[in-house]
Amino acid sequence: MSLTNAHLHAVCRPAARAPSEPLCDTETVDLVSDLLKTRQNISPKRLVEPGPSAEQLQHIFEAAAAAPDHGLLSPWRFVVVSKSRRIQLGDVFALCLIDRDPSATLEQIEAAREKALRAPLLVLAVAKLGAIPGDIPEIERMVSVGAAIQNILLAAHGMGLGGGLTSGQALHTERMSRFFDLHQHEKAVCFINIGTPSKRKTPRLRPTVDTFVSTL
Ligand SMILES: Cc1cc2nc3c(=O)[nH]c(=O)nc-3n(C[C@H](O)[C@H](O)[C@H](O)COP(=O)(O)O)c2cc1C
Repeated sequence: MSLTNAHLHAVCRPAARAPSEPLCDTETVDLVSDLLKTRQNISPKRLVEPGPSAEQLQHIFEAAAAAPDHGLLSPWRFVVVSKSRRIQLGDVFALCLIDRDPSATLEQIEAAREKALRAPLLVLAVAKLGAIPGDIPEIERMVSVGAAIQNILLAAHGMGLGGGLTSGQALHTERMSRFFDLHQHEKAVCFINIGTPSKRKTPRLRPTVDTFVSTL
């Protein structure tokens, strides 16, 4: 499924209208609903070229900027790992593994290195946390980070691309923070892998609404 430009235009660039007027026609509403429900995590192993074009990437990051953001703090930033830095990132993954398991086998080390090389596009999502003036707690800022990440995944999905999140122990190490030059109150959240899906998984059963919604 892929949203057409007309759909995106209707959804993203609404003409002036009364607040109660629907944003778009029912067909587009259904399409957007399908978009939300059919997103799925695609493993980086199944993400192949082509990745997003420069124009698509711009739209993807603009979607991130539309995340809800209490206090308008933009408590997130995203670091695109350029192709030329992938090998170095692979070294960081390998060294992080050796740091925590000096007896790691060559095969395990190579598998760790591979994590940096798989998807056509690799982006680190960073949360900007720490004490700030005002009263927006960290948990609310983290919600905003998650929403920005979700918007990225949905934007990519809408373009017919696939996205997968990856994390792991290496992410939260001093070595990784240094590689990405994270500031004191910044936290690496996860990697966002984007590319063309070579294969999709069988859709998983989603939790039914009654299991997570109650009425007070
Ligand atoms: C912050 C975060 C980190 C994640 N890290 C990984 C990961 O390291 N490896 C992985 O296979 N999936 C990872 N995922 C994806 C989840 O496993 C996936 O969303 C879950 O299995 C549900 O599948 P779905 O997204 O297709 O509905 C991560 C998800 C989030 C929100």
